[in-house]
Amino acid sequence: MKKYHIFSRFFNSMGSFYNLSELAQYMAVFYFNMRTVHFHTQGKNFLELHEYAQELYEQAEEYYDDLVETAISFNEMVQPMFVTPGDCPPVTDVANMTPTDTIGVMLNGVRVLFDSLESITKEVYPSFVYSKIDSMLEWLDKQNYKLTQMSKEI
Ligand SMILES: [Fe+2]
Repeated sequence: MKKYHIFSRFFNSMGSFYNLSELAQYMAVFYFNMRTVHFHTQGKNFLELHEYAQELYEQAEEYYDDLVETAISFNEMVQPMFVTPGDCPPVTDVANMTPTDTIGVMLNGVRVLFDSLESITKEVYPSFVYSKIDSMLEWLDKQNYKLTQMSKEI
Protein backbone atom coordinates (compact mmCIF):
# COMPACT_ATOMS: atom_id res chain seq x y z
CA MET A 1 0.00 0.00 0.00
CA LYS A 2 2.86 2.32 0.81
CA LYS A 3 4.14 2.19 -2.76
CA TYR A 4 0.75 3.34 -4.07
CA HIS A 5 0.73 6.23 -1.66
CA ILE A 6 4.08 7.37 -3.01
CA PHE A 7 2.65 7.08 -6.54
CA SER A 8 -0.35 9.21 -5.68
CA ARG A 9 1.86 11.89 -4.11
CA PHE A 10 3.94 11.84 -7.26
CA PHE A 11 0.85 12.34 -9.42
CA ASN A 12 -0.37 15.17 -7.22
CA SER A 13 2.97 16.90 -7.48
CA MET A 14 2.79 16.59 -11.28
CA GLY A 15 -0.44 18.59 -11.13
CA SER A 16 -2.11 16.62 -13.92
CA PHE A 17 -5.62 17.71 -14.90
CA TYR A 18 -6.54 14.14 -15.89
CA ASN A 19 -6.83 11.16 -13.61
CA LEU A 20 -8.06 7.60 -13.88
CA SER A 21 -11.22 8.21 -11.87
CA GLU A 22 -12.24 10.89 -14.38
CA LEU A 23 -11.57 8.49 -17.26
CA ALA A 24 -13.70 5.94 -15.41
CA GLN A 25 -16.57 8.43 -15.30
CA TYR A 26 -16.40 8.84 -19.08
CA MET A 27 -16.39 5.05 -19.40
CA ALA A 28 -19.47 4.92 -17.14
CA VAL A 29 -21.35 7.36 -19.42
CA PHE A 30 -20.51 5.16 -22.40
CA TYR A 31 -21.68 2.10 -20.45
CA PHE A 32 -24.98 3.79 -19.51
CA ASN A 33 -25.55 4.96 -23.08
CA MET A 34 -24.95 1.51 -24.55
CA ARG A 35 -27.41 0.03 -22.04
CA THR A 36 -29.92 2.70 -23.08
CA VAL A 37 -29.66 2.04 -26.83
CA HIS A 38 -29.69 -1.72 -26.16
CA PHE A 39 -33.32 -1.39 -25.03
CA HIS A 40 -34.56 1.64 -26.95
CA THR A 41 -33.27 1.20 -30.49
CA GLN A 42 -36.08 0.61 -32.98
CA GLY A 43 -36.49 -0.37 -36.62
CA LYS A 44 -35.31 -3.02 -39.04
CA ASN A 45 -31.78 -3.24 -37.60
CA PHE A 46 -33.08 -3.77 -34.07
CA LEU A 47 -31.55 -7.17 -33.41
CA GLU A 48 -28.11 -6.33 -34.84
CA LEU A 49 -27.90 -3.04 -32.91
CA HIS A 50 -29.39 -4.55 -29.74
CA GLU A 51 -26.72 -7.26 -29.72
CA TYR A 52 -23.89 -4.93 -30.70
CA ALA A 53 -24.86 -2.52 -27.88
CA GLN A 54 -24.58 -5.43 -25.45
CA GLU A 55 -21.12 -6.28 -26.76
CA LEU A 56 -20.12 -2.64 -26.20
CA TYR A 57 -21.49 -2.30 -22.67
CA GLU A 58 -20.02 -5.63 -21.58
CA GLN A 59 -16.57 -4.50 -22.69
CA ALA A 60 -17.12 -1.02 -21.20
CA GLU A 61 -18.07 -2.59 -17.86
CA GLU A 62 -14.80 -4.53 -17.83
CA TYR A 63 -12.79 -1.41 -18.69
CA TYR A 64 -14.68 0.62 -16.08
CA ASP A 65 -13.83 -1.97 -13.46
CA ASP A 66 -10.17 -1.93 -14.43
CA LEU A 67 -9.97 1.89 -14.41
CA VAL A 68 -11.64 2.18 -11.00
CA GLU A 69 -9.57 -0.58 -9.40
CA THR A 70 -6.36 0.99 -10.73
CA ALA A 71 -7.49 4.46 -9.59
CA ILE A 72 -8.22 3.13 -6.09
CA SER A 73 -4.82 1.42 -5.98
CA PHE A 74 -3.33 4.91 -6.52
CA ASN A 75 -5.44 6.37 -3.69
CA GLU A 76 -7.53 8.42 -6.10
CA MET A 77 -10.92 9.65 -4.97
CA VAL A 78 -13.46 7.68 -7.00
CA GLN A 79 -17.03 8.92 -7.53
CA PRO A 80 -19.98 6.51 -7.46
CA MET A 81 -20.72 5.13 -10.95
CA PHE A 82 -23.86 7.23 -11.48
CA VAL A 83 -21.98 10.50 -10.92
CA THR A 84 -21.16 11.43 -14.51
CA PRO A 85 -18.97 14.29 -15.78
CA GLY A 86 -20.84 17.60 -16.23
CA ASP A 87 -19.58 18.02 -19.79
CA CYS A 88 -20.69 14.52 -20.81
CA PRO A 89 -24.28 13.80 -19.70
CA PRO A 90 -25.83 10.39 -20.52
CA VAL A 91 -28.46 10.16 -23.27
CA THR A 92 -31.97 10.51 -21.83
CA ASP A 93 -34.11 11.17 -24.92
CA VAL A 94 -35.16 7.68 -25.91
CA ALA A 95 -38.31 8.45 -27.93
CA ASN A 96 -38.35 6.99 -31.47
CA MET A 97 -34.72 5.94 -31.48
CA THR A 98 -34.05 5.04 -35.13
CA PRO A 99 -31.05 2.94 -36.29
CA THR A 100 -29.40 6.22 -37.41
CA ASP A 101 -29.92 7.74 -33.93
CA THR A 102 -28.54 4.60 -32.31
CA ILE A 103 -25.43 4.48 -34.49
CA GLY A 104 -25.01 8.22 -33.84
CA VAL A 105 -25.06 7.67 -30.05
CA MET A 106 -22.60 4.78 -30.39
CA LEU A 107 -20.25 6.67 -32.70
CA ASN A 108 -20.32 9.83 -30.60
CA GLY A 109 -19.74 7.77 -27.44
CA VAL A 110 -16.76 5.96 -28.95
CA ARG A 111 -15.22 9.27 -30.10
CA VAL A 112 -15.73 11.13 -26.81
CA LEU A 113 -14.19 8.21 -24.94
CA PHE A 114 -11.29 8.00 -27.38
CA ASP A 115 -10.53 11.72 -26.95
CA SER A 116 -10.71 11.60 -23.17
CA LEU A 117 -8.46 8.53 -22.97
CA GLU A 118 -6.00 9.91 -25.50
CA SER A 119 -5.68 13.29 -23.84
CA ILE A 120 -4.05 12.10 -20.60
CA THR A 121 -0.55 13.43 -20.31
CA LYS A 122 1.97 10.78 -21.29
CA GLU A 123 4.50 11.43 -18.51
CA VAL A 124 2.14 11.15 -15.55
CA TYR A 125 1.37 7.43 -15.17
CA PRO A 126 3.66 4.38 -15.08
CA SER A 127 3.89 2.31 -18.27
CA PHE A 128 1.54 -0.50 -17.18
CA VAL A 129 -1.28 2.05 -16.99
CA TYR A 130 -0.48 3.16 -20.52
CA SER A 131 -0.64 -0.38 -21.83
CA LYS A 132 -4.19 -0.61 -20.41
CA ILE A 133 -5.11 2.74 -21.97
CA ASP A 134 -3.52 1.71 -25.27
CA SER A 135 -5.57 -1.48 -25.49
CA MET A 136 -8.74 0.54 -24.76
CA LEU A 137 -7.80 3.01 -27.51
CA GLU A 138 -7.16 0.17 -29.94
CA TRP A 139 -10.57 -1.34 -29.14
CA LEU A 140 -12.29 2.05 -29.54
CA ASP A 141 -10.54 2.60 -32.86
CA LYS A 142 -11.94 -0.73 -34.13
CA GLN A 143 -15.46 0.23 -33.01
CA ASN A 144 -15.09 3.63 -34.67
CA TYR A 145 -14.20 1.93 -37.95
CA LYS A 146 -17.04 -0.57 -37.66
CA LEU A 147 -19.61 2.11 -36.77
CA THR A 148 -18.45 4.42 -39.55
CA GLN A 149 -19.05 1.55 -42.02
CA MET A 150 -22.45 0.83 -40.46
CA SER A 151 -23.51 4.50 -40.72
CA LYS A 152 -22.78 4.44 -44.47
CA GLU A 153 -24.84 1.28 -45.01
CA ILE A 154 -27.87 2.29 -42.98
FE1 LIG B 1 -30.46 -7.48 -22.87
